[in-house]
Amino acid sequence: MKRVKAVYPGSFDPPTNGHLDLIQRGSKIFDELVVAILGNPEKEPLFSVPDRRKMLEAMTADFDNVTVDTFNGLTVDYATRVGAGALLRGIRAISDYEYELQMALMNRKLQPGLETIFMMPAEKYSYLSSRLVREIAQHGGAIDCLVPPLVAQKLREKMDIAHKFADAETIHAEAESTIERKIKPRKRKS
Ligand code: PNS
Repeated sequence: MKRVKAVYPGSFDPPTNGHLDLIQRGSKIFDELVVAILGNPEKEPLFSVPDRRKMLEAMTADFDNVTVDTFNGLTVDYATRVGAGALLRGIRAISDYEYELQMALMNRKLQPGLETIFMMPAEKYSYLSSRLVREIAQHGGAIDCLVPPLVAQKLREKMDIAHKFADAETIHAEAESTIERKIKPRKRKS
């Protein structure tokens, strides 16, 4: 019987419960599933690629047919390189459909032998996205029900560092303006 290897490409910045749900579903229908993180230098990511990889590896440790990898360049080239016959993508709502359809058709144009398989995550994750998780975390909102515990922990650490950095910058700016006020010679009134 033919074995099917699939690639699940994405940014995963950060990985969410929705991603995990899809990995779980994908691992049931594919013989092998590679979760492939795009190292995209154009975007300013919250987490580095190695950090995202570590989180995804921990999240998928219990699935023996799932591996995690990183790639640059075209997804179809990566999939061909690792011998995959399918791409896995999630569709949460109609709003995802247009972009996903365009990408799937373009990928098919680039690599006709590669099929894109769409799966739907559980309804409870239909509103969940990495972008919203980042935004909620940045403003101190509750993220525990949106991401695995390890990711929640990493997000909190990131936000603590960011806040400390912001506090230090404010203190520095205030100190600079005080010094400037104190040492800058006042203009004489003529
Ligand atoms: O999680 P995301 O950000 O929705 O994933 C998008 C991703 C990584 C699947 C897409 O941007 C992609 O495939 N990028 C690699 C470059 C590429 O192949 N572009 C052409 C797509 S038709």
